Amino acid sequence: MTHHPFLAAAALAVGLSLASGSLVPAQADTTQAPLKDVHWSFDSPVGMYDQEQLQRGYKVYHEVCSACHSMNMVAFRNLADKGGPFWNPAYPNSNDNPVVKALAAQAQYDSIDTETGQPVKRPGTTADYFPSPFPNEVAARAANNGALPPDMSLLAAAREGGARYIYSIVTGDGTTPPAGLTVPDGKYYDPYMPGDLSSFWKGDPNKVPVGGFIAMPPPLVDDRVTFDDGTKATVAQEAKDVAAFLEWASDPKADERKQLGIEVMLFLLVFTGLLYASYRTLWRKVGH
Ligand code: HEC
Repeated sequence: MTHHPFLAAAALAVGLSLASGSLVPAQADTTQAPLKDVHWSFDSPVGMYDQEQLQRGYKVYHEVCSACHSMNMVAFRNLADKGGPFWNPAYPNSNDNPVVKALAAQAQYDSIDTETGQPVKRPGTTADYFPSPFPNEVAARAANNGALPPDMSLLAAAREGGARYIYSIVTGDGTTPPAGLTVPDGKYYDPYMPGDLSSFWKGDPNKVPVGGFIAMPPPLVDDRVTFDDGTKATVAQEAKDVAAFLEWASDPKADERKQLGIEVMLFLLVFTGLLYASYRTLWRKVGH
């Protein structure tokens, strides 16, 4: 081994900083209520998405959340990809799927008239990404008291707790902050939003409420949408379905991966059986 003083020093520095945790982001004193205990079909390692639930979830996103939250990385055709909300084996090419074509055509996109050069609107196609509610971040913040509604394409993957976090946030109880908590203008109390409320709390300093403030008014009420499959649209149902849809959007290949996993396990099982049978056959005439 060569002894290079610089390398040794660098290694020592990295080692020390890892040990002292300085490479790890500092943990602020935030608190958060334990996420709500809710279950989905895709929870287990072999559990798949529920297609009807994904359709309902898309509807909630489209009719409610998309007024503020973009999903810039999802195109209409993705909705008809294998395992997606509108996947139909009759249309292996998702661009041919009539449901998704119709959904895309309802959206309007900026375009240029090829004759006059004037800006015009054109209907969306399956290749278009979901339209953004705001033209840019400044406009998004201006419409939301300075807060930016995060893009939802990967939200479920980006947040600790995933679908459970999203569900808890939107069913959290922003309407009734605990007495003694001063809620700033344009903000709502949400026990599931990580935060530190100590400086807004007038009560017992040992009983500071958990959670934080969120600049989003509670987006759901009962019957906010009407589900096409007749499912009752309670707040809990809407939240559960939209969280499932966002989970799918952030990991659309999960079903295929799980399916492959199951097939590999079955193959290994059969292969082991065959191996054992051939072992028995080969050594049949040999005394042990
Ligand atoms: C009126 C606009 C508006 C609507 C409608 C809306 N949101 Fe929000 N949402 C916001 C804003 C603004 C924030 C950022 C809040 C903050 O930073 O304090 C936010 C934040 C969130 C967060 C927390 C994100 C994070 O960074 O951890 C979640 C989860 C969320 N929204 C889910 C939803 C869901 C699900 C819907 C539809 C059912 C929805 N929102 C509808 C404005 C909206």
